[in-house]
Amino acid sequence: MQTVLLYCCCQKKMYVCLFFSPVCEIEVPERLSSCYEHLQRYNLIERCVSVPVREGTEDEIMLVHSSDYLEVVKSTEKMKEEELQKTSAEYDAVYFHPTTYRCAKLAVGATLELVDAVMSGRTRNGMALVRPPGHHSQRNAANGFCIFNNVAIAAKHAQKKYGLQRLSIYLILIVDWDVHHGQGIQYIFDEDPSVLYFSWHRFEHQQFWPSLRASDYDAVGQGKGKGFNINVPWNKVGMGNADYVAVFLYVLLPLAFEFDPELVLVSAGYDSGIGDPEGQMCATPECFAHLTHFLMQLAKGKLCMVLEGGYHLRSLSESVCMTIKTLLGDPLPHLSGEMAPCLSALESIHNVRAAHKQYWKCLAYESTIPLQDLSTRSYQTGKAESEQTGAQFITPQEAGKSHNDEVIKTDRFLELHMKKMMSLKPPVRTAVAVGESLTHLLPPSVQIEKGMDAKELNITISGFDAELAKEEKVLKMLAVLEKIIKKEVTNGLAKTSVAPLSLAFVLKHCSDLNVQKVLCVFVGDMDMKIDLGDGKVLLINISAKQSEQSNTKYNIFFHWKEDIETTTFFSAVTGFILPVAYSYQPDLTVIVIGHNQTFSNDGISLLLSLLQGLAQSQVLVLIQDTELKLLQDILMVLTNDFTPFFGSYTPALKENVQMIKELRQQLQQEWKMLQCSGK
Ligand SMILES: *[C@@H]1O[C@H](CO)[C@@H](O)[C@H](O)[C@H]1NC(C)=O
Ligand SMILES: *[C@@H]1O[C@H](CO)[C@@H](O)[C@H](O)[C@H]1NC(C)=O
Ligand SMILES: *[C@@H]1O[C@H](CO)[C@@H](O)[C@H](O)[C@H]1NC(C)=O
Ligand SMILES: [Zn+2]
Repeated sequence: MQTVLLYCCCQKKMYVCLFFSPVCEIEVPERLSSCYEHLQRYNLIERCVSVPVREGTEDEIMLVHSSDYLEVVKSTEKMKEEELQKTSAEYDAVYFHPTTYRCAKLAVGATLELVDAVMSGRTRNGMALVRPPGHHSQRNAANGFCIFNNVAIAAKHAQKKYGLQRLSIYLILIVDWDVHHGQGIQYIFDEDPSVLYFSWHRFEHQQFWPSLRASDYDAVGQGKGKGFNINVPWNKVGMGNADYVAVFLYVLLPLAFEFDPELVLVSAGYDSGIGDPEGQMCATPECFAHLTHFLMQLAKGKLCMVLEGGYHLRSLSESVCMTIKTLLGDPLPHLSGEMAPCLSALESIHNVRAAHKQYWKCLAYESTIPLQDLSTRSYQTGKAESEQTGAQFITPQEAGKSHNDEVIKTDRFLELHMKKMMSLKPPVRTAVAVGESLTHLLPPSVQIEKGMDAKELNITISGFDAELAKEEKVLKMLAVLEKIIKKEVTNGLAKTSVAPLSLAFVLKHCSDLNVQKVLCVFVGDMDMKIDLGDGKVLLINISAKQSEQSNTKYNIFFHWKEDIETTTFFSAVTGFILPVAYSYQPDLTVIVIGHNQTFSNDGISLLLSLLQGLAQSQVLVLIQDTELKLLQDILMVLTNDFTPFFGSYTPALKENVQMIKELRQQLQQEWKMLQCSGK
């Protein structure tokens, strides 16, 4: 399973702003060359498939743009500096250079090649590193450095080329994580229910460029497209990893799973990353690894990233590398920072969910009316649309020396930070310990555990027969565990006939090996008691039985009943289990699968896929004797030999939604990522 990389070198250093224009001096060729150098430094280029870039055709450009506008852009090729400046001034925050037209065509062509590579199945996913960016550009206008709308053209192209072969409408999700609102994309698909557009953006109550009323959370689309435009306004700067992940868990992922797209396009702007002069946000590069990992669970993994903004060269480059490493299937780094979203972010999340309640089943039981953004709104904006006022793209204080100091500060921070992040990728992905009778059924990529010498182990567990520890099954299981902890493998699976006992051995061994935090998720019926309370183990017990015991911080009982055929588990996973897991930030995840699971196989696969985002992707699965199908499904997720599909969405039962809400209430002071409202 491969990842494709398209690099639009675009006449090297030529495409720059020729005339003095403070709004344009950050969109420079070094943005691409710096990304390329970092990709080389981390040896990522040779791990990707490179595809040559072509120019987009006029017909392709006109999937989105008018022929009049195309003619204007074309005419800039022959212009002298003065004319270029004049044409540029007709648009907001745009500059033209004699090579602009060619570069913009290459950006379109590269994006379409990427989509074709992914749609044809030649590669699983990929990224196009292009400039000029596209998401601000509109049918008749260049805007905010953007000439042609690369991602919008890609969506139209994919629908036209691949949509005809099927009877259903071809659904596409566009995720715009650039820090600016891609109003161009919003306008193009405003009435189109076949394209779900998600954008978060610095907004500050309409004070920040492009300062549009239409960027607020209540712009949900128009006509048939109502509900298919999701705007998450940031009303404060300084948003960080927890805020970004919270928006994915409570807004984007639930709606995206319900929408169930066939292709995901990302307007991948990195001005939402730390140190960027435009965004002034705080998300560190590994945050983009986590966001990418979330999106890889959609559309059977068909994911195309297309570069948009990103103006701090180092921050941009490191974030691009993190994105590509994740696309390639590398283990994810720990997400740094305190895992608690800020009040302003919670208000935005609350308001978006309220605005979309009537359009999405997953939000049906929300009792939400919009909040007044109390934490940030100190005035009532009575301002008219400032679309035409030419609001500044860059605030004045960013110019000059203090700006340089900021750049250097971020450079230094990232130098240290990335050393912690770029951990080595284990040579083997998955190790398994199963009985002889099963080994011939395993995929060739897994390492079959032969077991370790009993003398190497020194485990005594009071209450257990010491002889048990010397049994071959136990030894093999512990050998797999050790390999995970020593980072010789990323994850592992062990079959056991007595899961509670095996888990006891695992936890004891973790403690001996000094693993600080183990997240333990139980699925199915298993009677056991674990000694909890010191925070070294967090237990989430998903069971259909009722439980008398009350929940505590480290021992959470999750009562879940569902028909094995249905797929209502999405809300349980994204709305409860993941937020708790992200709050805890484990060093190892152990998933124990017993008999009588009330999560379907698809649900278990989804849970396992998403939990691989935590604990540096270190997961041990303990599985009771069970049907072969489940074992194989789990192995496909662990080995990453699998394009994920978790069944089509069914809304959760009201009683289940209610139960999740109550649990969230109960535990959100302990696990802050459970908050999803500013109330
Ligand atoms: C095994 O552990 C016991 C205590 O748990 C210790 O006294 C003993 O020295 C250990 N033996 C080895 C070989 O490490
Ligand atoms: C999980 O809950 C069930 C039902 O209450 C209980 O029987 C079982 O012992 C619990 N498991 C753990 C590990 O606490
Ligand atoms: C599974 O559930 C059935 C019916 O509720 C029960 O008879 C059986 O004992 C359960 N199996 C286990 C291993 O708990
Ligand atoms: Zn941007």
